[in-house]
Amino acid sequence: MINKRVEAAVNEQIKREEHSSRLYLAMASWCEVTGFPGAAAFLYAQAEEERMHMLKFVHYLNDRSGHAIMSALDMPKPEYKSLKDVFEQVMKHEEYITASINELYGVSFDEKDFTTGNFLQWFINEQIEEESTMRGILDKLNLAGDGQSGGLFHIDKELTTMASARATTSSTEQ
Ligand code: FEO
Repeated sequence: MINKRVEAAVNEQIKREEHSSRLYLAMASWCEVTGFPGAAAFLYAQAEEERMHMLKFVHYLNDRSGHAIMSALDMPKPEYKSLKDVFEQVMKHEEYITASINELYGVSFDEKDFTTGNFLQWFINEQIEEESTMRGILDKLNLAGDGQSGGLFHIDKELTTMASARATTSSTEQ
């Protein structure tokens, strides 16, 4: 039976991962209606990946004789100022998720639940990759500047390629 404090903390993380999925879905939708099809594809794929993260936690908790709970979620913001604004918020959100995974790791360590600590290693590594990917996109957007539509067009095209790569990776990971 999983420790109750660890169970509550994992359920909190399930909520955060599901919220991440819906947040990226809202961003993808904004990109799609604003003329950024590549960014939309990338964020739709990212939303799927977050759903996969949520499911990993759900199955883990239930496999450990806990009970995964689906919580009420806040509505994600539907409007954004620019593509740069979108990815600035993605970056901030991923940093927040990294901090929350570390916090969860801390709880499992305090409670001497080393099985959960071991399980969280995958997420710790995943966060390094997620932050680095998002930082790379944001760096390019900062270089292009909001007003340069030519630069944005190329970044959007590049995001289409990245979206296909992401979709392939997550389908082989599941
Ligand atoms: Fe599930 Fe992007 O962190």
